[in-house]
Amino acid sequence: MPFEINKTELVWPGKYDADGNLVQPPRVSLPFQVIERVNETRATREAKKAEGLTLFDVWDGANEGATFEDGWRNKLIWGDNAVVMSSLTANFAGKIQLIYIDPPFDSGADFSATIDVGDESIKKEKSMLEEVAYRDTWGKLEYSYLSVMHPRLHQMRELLTDNGSLLLHCDYRASGALRLVLDEVFGSDKFRNELIWNKGFRGTEAKRIYQRSHDTIFWYSKSDTYIWNSPVQPYKDERAGRYNQVDETGQRFALIKRTRADGSSYYGKTYFKEEGKSANDVISHVPTMAATSGERVGYDTQKPLALIEFLIDALSAPGALVADFFVGSGTTAVAAEQLGRRWIGADLGRFSIHTTRKRLLEIEKCKPFEVLNLGSYERQFWSTANFGKDLDGDGQINLLEYIAFILKLYGAEPLTGSSHLHGRKGDAYIYVGTVSNPVTIAEIEQAVNECKAMKGSTVHVLGWEWEMGLHDPIVGEAKRLGVKLVLRQIPREVMEAEAVRKGQIKFFELAYLEVDIEQKPNGEVVCTLNDFSTPNTDFVPEEVREKIKKWSDYVDYWAVDWDFQNDTFNHGFVTYRTRQDRTLQLKSDPHKYNKAGTFKVMIKAIDIFGNDTSKLVEFKAK
Ligand SMILES: C[S@@+](CC[C@H](N)C(=O)[O-])C[C@H]1O[C@@H](n2cnc3c(N)ncnc32)[C@H](O)[C@@H]1O
Repeated sequence: MPFEINKTELVWPGKYDADGNLVQPPRVSLPFQVIERVNETRATREAKKAEGLTLFDVWDGANEGATFEDGWRNKLIWGDNAVVMSSLTANFAGKIQLIYIDPPFDSGADFSATIDVGDESIKKEKSMLEEVAYRDTWGKLEYSYLSVMHPRLHQMRELLTDNGSLLLHCDYRASGALRLVLDEVFGSDKFRNELIWNKGFRGTEAKRIYQRSHDTIFWYSKSDTYIWNSPVQPYKDERAGRYNQVDETGQRFALIKRTRADGSSYYGKTYFKEEGKSANDVISHVPTMAATSGERVGYDTQKPLALIEFLIDALSAPGALVADFFVGSGTTAVAAEQLGRRWIGADLGRFSIHTTRKRLLEIEKCKPFEVLNLGSYERQFWSTANFGKDLDGDGQINLLEYIAFILKLYGAEPLTGSSHLHGRKGDAYIYVGTVSNPVTIAEIEQAVNECKAMKGSTVHVLGWEWEMGLHDPIVGEAKRLGVKLVLRQIPREVMEAEAVRKGQIKFFELAYLEVDIEQKPNGEVVCTLNDFSTPNTDFVPEEVREKIKKWSDYVDYWAVDWDFQNDTFNHGFVTYRTRQDRTLQLKSDPHKYNKAGTFKVMIKAIDIFGNDTSKLVEFKAK
């Protein structure tokens, strides 16, 4: 039989596996860990202070449900969206009404976030750190980009409600290919609009081509019954001028020439709507943000809030669930929050999560939200996928391969013949922590002892997570034994192939916090941040380092959980720098315990690199 082609399909290397099967998204359901919970934002707290309300009446929703009333908490998830979406499927398949995404544009570029350092205002302060916020990770070749997008679009479709929609924001580089992929995933009959966002001309003038001044937003619905709230756009002034007639009820209208089916023409009334005219597919009332706009949060690809609000308002109902799995600086989460929608935002970047969290904390009466990740489960999934092909075939990861991989990234050589040490870098011995468990004091002790037995002087311990409260005792103990101990964080970027390929992996040394907690005679407890020492100054460019005057310049944000119970950090007090206000409070607002007793107080700081440092203190409240 002659080979018959009966449909249009875009094919790229990697779309099908060697046996001709369509490559599927991961089918894993990993448990989410709630790492942080915010019941009350700083903005709400400040507003209450101004109104003289109590600082202590926090929201305490117990069981989460499908509406705010049931105690639903909005979710900011740190992780690769393929694994995040697959893990959401069990509970959220068919539950999300609108997904907006603005994935990297396949430009082959790395985008950066601008980090301000210190107390000075942005205008005076030139010293900024440019950190790679996310990699336009998918390589220059279109096919690798499509290999990433295609399975993820399938996952998104599965998560949508029957009346739900997907909005995909892209530009001329990827729009042609994405349109075909969307047709395939949603069905070409579910295509609703190609929206043109006219950004207004900006930037340097292009030569010998038309100025590029728009992005494309594809809208696909899951079914033919979708939410449509009849959006309006403002009239352009000159158009509004056409509405120069007034009827007997006082309403303005224009007389516009129309044509009947038989070809004859007549003048019909078109009424002026105060709220604006019915929206068309060119969004030209939202210009791109100026470089100096107060809305900018220092994230290169941040989109205007007004644009996302316009879209969410049109395609979702109040209270419905809206998601963005490439949330970046958090614009979708902020827009959804302000429009009374529930939301889920995900991103794999540290700066994205930190920036989004800060933007949300600036919203007065922000609904409770939580920050989640997949913790060690995501790492195990990654390591099994990459190092799982062990000879025994027992599904366990090949530990030696994993260790060799980490050592290579760290610039170290594998070491044989030692039971507790794995590698060497110059004079230092290296110990690599496992993917599944926090590095414990006992493990470090063994590494230090072995280093001493081998007549070494320095041990570097690399870990993903650390046993709580480990820093002070263990560093002190190693010093006593005459061994220099360096504790370094294995960064999440290790799981991103492109970051590895580009050599962008930085192993930050664990920073250290000093705090003081005291109770005043009136019972109020105050926590003071006394010191933050970061050994990572090498990562700060020379010219910036010169401008750093004091330890607190390294701190961007800190928060206190006054009664730390388990693995979730509950925000009791929080303070941070913003682009507008560069100051940082070093003393917390007062806290009052309801009863006397010993409490675990957890203090968490985030430095200018986006790294977390925590300290747990036992405090006896009277
Ligand atoms: C163009 S930015 C989004 C900007 C956003 N619309 C805003 O207004 O700030 C794309 C984001 O996708 C994230 N990203 C890229 N690949 C990802 C993945 N596999 N999983 C989760 N996030 C990813 C990047 O870290 C980046 O923050």
